[in-house]
Amino acid sequence: MDKKPQEHRQGARPREVPPVVLLLLAMVLMNALLYLCLDQFFASPPQPPGQPSRCPSGYFRVGQMTSCSPWLACEELRTQVRPLKRVGDGAVKRVFLSEWKERKVALSRLTSLEVRGDFLHGLQMLKSLQSPHVVTLLGYCEEDNTILTEYHPLGSLSNLEETLNLSKYQHVNTWQRRLQLAMDYVGIINYLHNSPLGMRVMCDANDLPKTLSQYLLTSNFSIVANDLDALPLVNHSSRTFVKCGHRELRGDFVAPEQLWPYGDDLPFHDDLMPAYDEKIDIWRIPDVSSFLLGHVEGSDMVRFHLFDIHKACKSKTPAERPTAQEILDTYRKVLNSLRDAVMTQTREML
Ligand SMILES: Nc1ncnc2c1ncn2[C@@H]1O[C@H](COP(=O)(O)OP(=O)(O)OP(=O)(O)O)[C@@H](O)[C@H]1O
Ligand SMILES: [Mg+2]
Repeated sequence: MDKKPQEHRQGARPREVPPVVLLLLAMVLMNALLYLCLDQFFASPPQPPGQPSRCPSGYFRVGQMTSCSPWLACEELRTQVRPLKRVGDGAVKRVFLSEWKERKVALSRLTSLEVRGDFLHGLQMLKSLQSPHVVTLLGYCEEDNTILTEYHPLGSLSNLEETLNLSKYQHVNTWQRRLQLAMDYVGIINYLHNSPLGMRVMCDANDLPKTLSQYLLTSNFSIVANDLDALPLVNHSSRTFVKCGHRELRGDFVAPEQLWPYGDDLPFHDDLMPAYDEKIDIWRIPDVSSFLLGHVEGSDMVRFHLFDIHKACKSKTPAERPTAQEILDTYRKVLNSLRDAVMTQTREML
């Protein structure tokens, strides 16, 4: 009944737009959208949304926990924590993937009473240095020589290459993310050199594999320090310096001042070995960063831009080496300038 006459509908139809014009219009729109998105994509590093504030000292929160719990004590560790399988073995600790209230946790047990001093020192450091740079402490029992920490399924940095080579992690195996890891590492050294417990030196790091084994890779691809069993104090004003161990060190991974300075004529003697300062950590940074940068597209470009700062880290004179903060600032500048360059290039291609 209320059907409109055919000729009226035909008369109202707009003039047809040629498909080529429509296609061109769609392409222009898509380019504009891409261009706008690029800013967001390149300018802001991934930020976990609404990261909650950290717990006060003596408390922890991991995973999906909404509130802070007090560190677990002996009784709770004995009755509520169930070891499942061994995931790590070191000179001081044997580490077990364990279960606590249906959560995965890491239970470390002292390997031998001879190294109890190192174990307790490490525990003291863990307790006092809780921060985003250090693995989260969940509890401890000195009587049983046990420490409970957050479990990181990707394990130590020794597994980094293997992990990033898995096809499911290809999207993070980029120079950007790898440089970010190097920044995490230098950030940890910077934190230790300016820690609430004074200037601390990462001593248990006399070769690359050992150094890598002291840090864990988190599931969101950042780095936390885990093994703090050898963090002696340096205090320049009271002329307090350190020696990493009592044995002779060799090779060029350790700083030159850590080598026996008197040649073969005089056999090594710990008492005669001069002490040194935090700049031994700076000497190692280029080697660790280079490992973290790996060999993906863009790694060498980053290495090239870090050449000067890394050369300064390798100065034979410790005092001439930069501070961790200076290195971190340089890394950040390089990351930002290379990101900008990539963004400009991509825009020009559009
Ligand atoms: N929280 C954790 N999550 C996952 N793996 C861990 C965790 N803690 C330790 N591990 C694994 O256990 C290994 C040994 O741990 P750790 O370095 O603390 O032991 P250690 O005996 O103090 O070592 P060292 O021989 O350097 O003194 C680590 O390299 C890592 O592979
Ligand atoms: Mg270790």
